[in-house]
Amino acid sequence: MTPIISVKDVRRSYGRGQNRFEALKGVSFDIFEGESVAIVGKSGSGKSTLMHVLALLDAPTSGTVELEGVDTRELRGRRLNKTRNKTFGFVFQQFFLTANASVLENVLLPMKIAGVGRIERRRRALAALEQLELADKAKNKAVNLSGGQKQRTVIARALVNDPRIIFADEPTGNLDSHTGAVVEDILFSLNRETGITLIVVTHDEELAARCDRRILIRDGLLVDESAAVAA
Ligand SMILES: Nc1ncnc2c1ncn2[C@@H]1O[C@H](COP(=O)(O)OP(=O)(O)O)[C@@H](O)[C@H]1O
Ligand SMILES: [Mg+2]
Repeated sequence: MTPIISVKDVRRSYGRGQNRFEALKGVSFDIFEGESVAIVGKSGSGKSTLMHVLALLDAPTSGTVELEGVDTRELRGRRLNKTRNKTFGFVFQQFFLTANASVLENVLLPMKIAGVGRIERRRRALAALEQLELADKAKNKAVNLSGGQKQRTVIARALVNDPRIIFADEPTGNLDSHTGAVVEDILFSLNRETGITLIVVTHDEELAARCDRRILIRDGLLVDESAAVAA
């Protein structure tokens, strides 16, 4: 079976000369379709850098990232944007919603970028909002939502292009524990029920323990790759 993502000796450094800092120092692993994987490690260990490289938001300084066996260095410009937009959904701690746009407009955006027609866009956005129990908030401005509603809007937005992989960077980091648990449950039920691959960056041990597998990063290196003990 070809991994959905295969990472081979990936390095990423920031800055130059004296200021050069190697945030990833040669990391290799595979992720298979339908897995849930936690990327764990202390703050500053390189988790977000790794996720940005996996999600093709950033290119490694050296090494390769393959997406279903295709070297992603072959993807450039429009093809890269299209692949990212169609294959990935993003759920970040900071939400990245357009504050003064409506919930519906926020959820429509990835489909506008993908060139989906107006009627179909609206149909899919409303279906996703329905699924996330936000249909009644469609016309509200994003800025007026609670934290949990914002993150559910972000998940609806992540789902509208029917992604194969959801990347979540500290998805519950800005939520209280009850709301965080609701958001976690949504992500894991998407993983189980629709087979979406879930890649979660977190320093929350409980969230990591719910994943099939953990990838532990320390100072830019992968130090342990163990199957999580079933909870
Ligand atoms: N754009 C950048 N320029 C310089 N250093 C960076 C940049 N982004 C991250 N770093 C550094 O790389 C290291 C890893 O950062 P990051 O991947 O954000 O870690 P984590 O997500 O695990 O907290 C940190 O020491 C951080 O300061
Ligand atoms: Mg981070």
